[in-house]
Amino acid sequence: MSVKILTVDDDINVLKSVEELLSLKKHKVFPHLTVRDALANFDDVQPDMAIVDFYMPDMTGIEAMKRLHERNPELPVVILTASREVNDAIEAIKSGAYHYLTKPILTDELFFTVDKIAEQVKLKDENRRLKEELGKRYQFDSIIGRSGALQDVFVVLNRAVKTKSTILITGESGTGKELIARAAHYNSNRVGGPFIKVNCAAIPESMLEAELFGIEKNIATGVAARPGKFELADGGSIFMDEIGEMSGATQAKVLRVLQEREVERIGSAKPKKVDIRIIAATNIDIAEAVREKKFRSDLYYRLNVFHIHMPPLARRKDDIPLLAEYFVKKYCEENGLPEKTLEPRALDYLCRRPWPGNIRELENAIERSVGTAEGDAITLADVEDIHIAPPPASADEVETPVNGKNLDDVVADYERKLLVAALERNRWKQNKAAQEMGISERSIWYKIKKLGIAPEKEGE
Ligand SMILES: Nc1ncnc2c1ncn2[C@@H]1O[C@H](COP(=O)(O)OP(=O)(O)OP(=O)(O)O)[C@@H](O)[C@H]1O
Ligand SMILES: [Mg+2]
Repeated sequence: MSVKILTVDDDINVLKSVEELLSLKKHKVFPHLTVRDALANFDDVQPDMAIVDFYMPDMTGIEAMKRLHERNPELPVVILTASREVNDAIEAIKSGAYHYLTKPILTDELFFTVDKIAEQVKLKDENRRLKEELGKRYQFDSIIGRSGALQDVFVVLNRAVKTKSTILITGESGTGKELIARAAHYNSNRVGGPFIKVNCAAIPESMLEAELFGIEKNIATGVAARPGKFELADGGSIFMDEIGEMSGATQAKVLRVLQEREVERIGSAKPKKVDIRIIAATNIDIAEAVREKKFRSDLYYRLNVFHIHMPPLARRKDDIPLLAEYFVKKYCEENGLPEKTLEPRALDYLCRRPWPGNIRELENAIERSVGTAEGDAITLADVEDIHIAPPPASADEVETPVNGKNLDDVVADYERKLLVAALERNRWKQNKAAQEMGISERSIWYKIKKLGIAPEKEGE
């Protein structure tokens, strides 16, 4: 296995010979004449090991090693010493050097030392990968809920992970679409490959194509080559979020990828085969978009091989106690707090509240209440103060026309307040806010204009 080796020596001849020798073994060597330069390049290089001279004008090898260890405490450092200075070698080892080599450097000693380190780097990498995979295998466990509605989701998910067919995940904002998409990848036999996410709504239309398909190098214009997300996902899964936001042109291109299983970078005529599983998600009613001819029906059918619909939290209220408990535990742990308990009255309140923002809203609410709860119990007051003004239950609660405001003004003020709150909860995405408020996109657009609502900061 080839490793990246940072070398530091004020003697350029030593640097050259070390580089020449190690290049024979296909290692990548990054030589530096001063420690300062080596440190400056450290983050770019991300070396697997370093070879450092003991005597240098700007600092000793021991000091240099300490500085390198500040960047990466586990970096194996080999110190170069003059053969007569046995004490230096001992000092180096005592200070945490992996090994020392005496000058003039003997080729086989150098090779042996570097090979041993390379072997360890490889083992460590493998260990980390195995651990990651093990962790990921339990990802189904991170999907909390026992409600019937969620069981239906598991049935389809279990079938889908055994295949490489496309999965379409629909559902309101915050219902766990991304969580399911990740679970689908990490519980499939593609777990060794990448999980690549692309949010079709967050990328300007003009850049989406390049993002998805990549760009071929163009010598004439100086454009550098860049792979697209489809290519990056080769051997793994690509999660296409907010698929309903793609333009007709992009839809046509994505359809081609699904049909041909190959991609073409912009500016290239050479298609490349890709082995990918596509997982798409949307919070719009995509069947409706198809009927309205906003979404291609042929693409819809290709995507919709497995369909998972995430029910809104209102339809799985039985899961609220489990979810609440899970989030309390999660945020206590994350904040290094002893585990708090939810008082029955607080839990009862959470179970009865409507959750238009679904699980994300519940999660945020609990996160805040964990922060505000003073003792080891989360009380009703802690959870109550997180609620977003619900529509008034009776006429008494409504502000009466005062201060020269007539009824229309008061109604407009109230409408504005509700709209801004809904827009803020949905990061100023009008379609999402409209959905949450149960009105059409057209009518939210109209109201925003009429009421002169403007976001403080736009978009994501
Ligand atoms: N069943 C569940 N168990 C535990 N956590 C969940 C569950 N469902 C959702 N969550 C958590 O709720 C949050 C929102 O979920 P996620 O991002 O997957 O929703 P989404 O449907 O993709 O929302 P959006 O449409 O707004 O992107 C995440 O932090 C996720 O981990
Ligand atoms: Mg999402």
